[in-house]
Amino acid sequence: MTNHTPPVCNYEGSDYQQSFWEQGGRQYEDLAEGIAFKRMLPKSGKLMLELGAGAGRNTPRYAGFDRIVVLDYSTTQLAQAQEKLGRSEKYIYVAADIYRLPFPDRSFDAATMIRALHHMADAPKALSQIRNVLQPGAIFILEFANKLNLKAILRYIFRRQSWNPFTLEPVEFVKLNFDFHPKAIRSWLQELGFTIEKTLTVSHFRLGFLKRIIPAKLLAWLDGLFQPTGALFQVTPSVFVKAKVKNESGTPRENFEVPLKIIDLFKCPECGNGKMKERPDHLHCTVCNANWAIQDGIYDFRERK
Ligand SMILES: C[S@@+](CC[C@H](N)C(=O)[O-])C[C@H]1O[C@@H](n2cnc3c(N)ncnc32)[C@H](O)[C@@H]1O
Ligand SMILES: [Zn+2]
Repeated sequence: MTNHTPPVCNYEGSDYQQSFWEQGGRQYEDLAEGIAFKRMLPKSGKLMLELGAGAGRNTPRYAGFDRIVVLDYSTTQLAQAQEKLGRSEKYIYVAADIYRLPFPDRSFDAATMIRALHHMADAPKALSQIRNVLQPGAIFILEFANKLNLKAILRYIFRRQSWNPFTLEPVEFVKLNFDFHPKAIRSWLQELGFTIEKTLTVSHFRLGFLKRIIPAKLLAWLDGLFQPTGALFQVTPSVFVKAKVKNESGTPRENFEVPLKIIDLFKCPECGNGKMKERPDHLHCTVCNANWAIQDGIYDFRERK
């Protein structure tokens, strides 16, 4: 059985972490995200899924969780994450496509997706895959790039930009780079059974001249003052949403059991079999005969071996 999934924006071999974050003058944005996380992340939890984790820039922020699945499509990004975070029981490195997740339903009590919805050509499909692997009461922290940002609004009004920031459809301004309307994000999440607990606007001051004259820490602190206005309106380039899977049963999310063995966290992404066999360098699915490589501490579910 082959599932047809939307195209993936390929970060294989990319120096994104160095060129965009470390040498790209984005300390302010990183610190501002850290403030938003402090306001949204549960203090503790059992099993966190980080989707589109890249080089693990945000992963240390989830340290209150017992275990963290660091997932990305690119193995070179994951190798950088591994270098930063080390190999231990706490971090499980997984190469997989967000549209085709290798986990049974209701596996996680939390998930985050930061700067990765940005590359989703079919965002509702990606969000529904994520919803499936979350248990009732689970927390999902989603960052999205906002098409209704002040710069886009002004450019549209002064006819410097053809696309309309007020309409609900995503805009693909560069191939496989999408900005979204906040209202569209809210309605997709609600249709999937999430309730929205908090919205924070982030990166109010993403302007070259401000970043040059004001120290990053101070600018991020100021950003933090403005972030709660996201509950009322959102015109920043980046928005954080804290959503929660509706929990009719009322069971606290702390009450679920995480499998002890790593292999029991996975299902075969091809046929859904949750009982694969562990071999020295791969996982074997006895139902559809697929083999999934384990290489350099990374479980690879992109293509069968
Ligand atoms: C802009 S980077 C963000 C990385 C990290 N979250 C951060 O904020 O530093 C986007 C990441 O999403 C990953 N990605 C894009 N499409 C994906 C897909 N379909 N499945 C899994 N990961 C994907 C890329 O490989 C890349 O590492
Ligand atoms: Zn299978």
